[in-house]
Amino acid sequence: MKLHHVGIVVEDIEKACAQYRKFLGLAPLSEIVIDPLQHVKIQMCGNHNEVSLELIQPYGEDSPVQRFLQKGGGLYHLCFEVENIDRAISEAKSEGAICIIEPLPAAAFQDRKVAFLFYSGIGLIEFVEGSSL
Ligand code: NI
Repeated sequence: MKLHHVGIVVEDIEKACAQYRKFLGLAPLSEIVIDPLQHVKIQMCGNHNEVSLELIQPYGEDSPVQRFLQKGGGLYHLCFEVENIDRAISEAKSEGAICIIEPLPAAAFQDRKVAFLFYSGIGLIEFVEGSSL
């Protein structure tokens, strides 16, 4: 599995993007995209041809990341590319992971399917189906 991005929960995506640019020299790699299924706003930033950062801001009151933000936000998940998301999920479950969000199309990734799993001892892992190459 190839690391695709690192998800970071922020309070204000525009402010966070400016900070990552100023302090770490990372450029915005996308526009701000609203994901209506996950109730978040997303913007990718980083250096081309490297693992990117995914800035995630809650969108709406019932956003699943709202509670995480209230606890301080920050590093939230690692996302790996998988060839077949259903197969990857069933393998992960057989190793004890719990699927928290079943596969759904991700607005920020051209509707490629994503899913979220929780691994005891590791934390939250996202799978994105297919390769960006
Ligand atoms: Ni993500």
